[in-house]
Amino acid sequence: MSDRITQLRTDFERELSAATAEADATALRDRWVGRKGGLLTAEMKTLGKLSPEERKTTGAELNELKNYVESAIETLLGEFAAKREAEQLAKERIDVTLPGRRVQAGHLHPITLLRQKIEDIFVSMGYEIEDGPEIETHFYNFEALNIPENHPARSPQDTFYLAGERTTELALRSQTSTMQIHAMQKRTPPLRVAAPGRVFRRDTPDATHNPMFYQVEGLLIDRGITLGDLKGTVEEFVRRLFGPDTKTRFRPSYFPFVEPGAEIDYTCFKCGGSGCRVCKGSGWIEMGGSGMVHPNVLRVVGIDPEEFTGFAFGLGLDRLCALMYGLDDIRLLYENDVRFLEQFR
Ligand code: PHE
Repeated sequence: MSDRITQLRTDFERELSAATAEADATALRDRWVGRKGGLLTAEMKTLGKLSPEERKTTGAELNELKNYVESAIETLLGEFAAKREAEQLAKERIDVTLPGRRVQAGHLHPITLLRQKIEDIFVSMGYEIEDGPEIETHFYNFEALNIPENHPARSPQDTFYLAGERTTELALRSQTSTMQIHAMQKRTPPLRVAAPGRVFRRDTPDATHNPMFYQVEGLLIDRGITLGDLKGTVEEFVRRLFGPDTKTRFRPSYFPFVEPGAEIDYTCFKCGGSGCRVCKGSGWIEMGGSGMVHPNVLRVVGIDPEEFTGFAFGLGLDRLCALMYGLDDIRLLYENDVRFLEQFR
């Protein structure tokens, strides 16, 4: 092999090993085998000046060198391309075992959850669910409910009057019993209606009081309804809400719109009646008021009390909700602190 070609090969190999980037390799290709100005391309052109004998051997050697250079550069370029691809893949790599990002979806308020559960029970017992106004007139708040003019419930100390005075016609309802009147005005008996909703009282907020809270009213009017039907209905209702072993008891009480009236207690859902922290050791929890609809109330809405009788009961949702979820303060239900609310997700 001619010294010249040996020299060229050595030069190329030195340059080849110095090529560390893709751009070096393409530059190397231009410099050595580029169509214009490539070292070997130029070298080929000098072959014509040689004798036919020399041309043959040098030409063959040169060709062999050129092939070697071309394939060495191709290999190098291939390595760079493979490296680039591997880097790209590494960048795009995703860990399919990584848990997904949780979507922050909204959820229902604990009072809503309880209300829905209670509505479901009423519906399964054949009651229609009805919604009604929170601002009421004297008629619905008091007169129709047989609440006399001098009754303490009418006092501005108990009721929120819209202009702050008892003489104004409008007030926020202080009990869902107003819905008894609406329900009976809209229908003719027999009827069964349950009305959940907000009520308002001038109470100073504390752990067990809030000026706004929730009640649900149940009303049934039919022929021949007795106190036995009220007890049976409440017992069944409470069993569905707290479980089949729950018992109820009725304590005589006074509400102007019922006669007789009773307060309802049920055996504590936590201890089953043996006494615990939830029921303050008594084994019983107060549920709400009830009674047989007063004949005066039936008359106001044009129902003949000689033909129809019925019962009503009302219960507060907030304290119930607090007891069920072990809350020590019902105001938690209204503060909208997401750290509290998120626990009901
Ligand atoms: N409305 C009464 C209260 O808020 C409860 C009640 C409802 C009593 C129905 C009798 C009949 O205390």
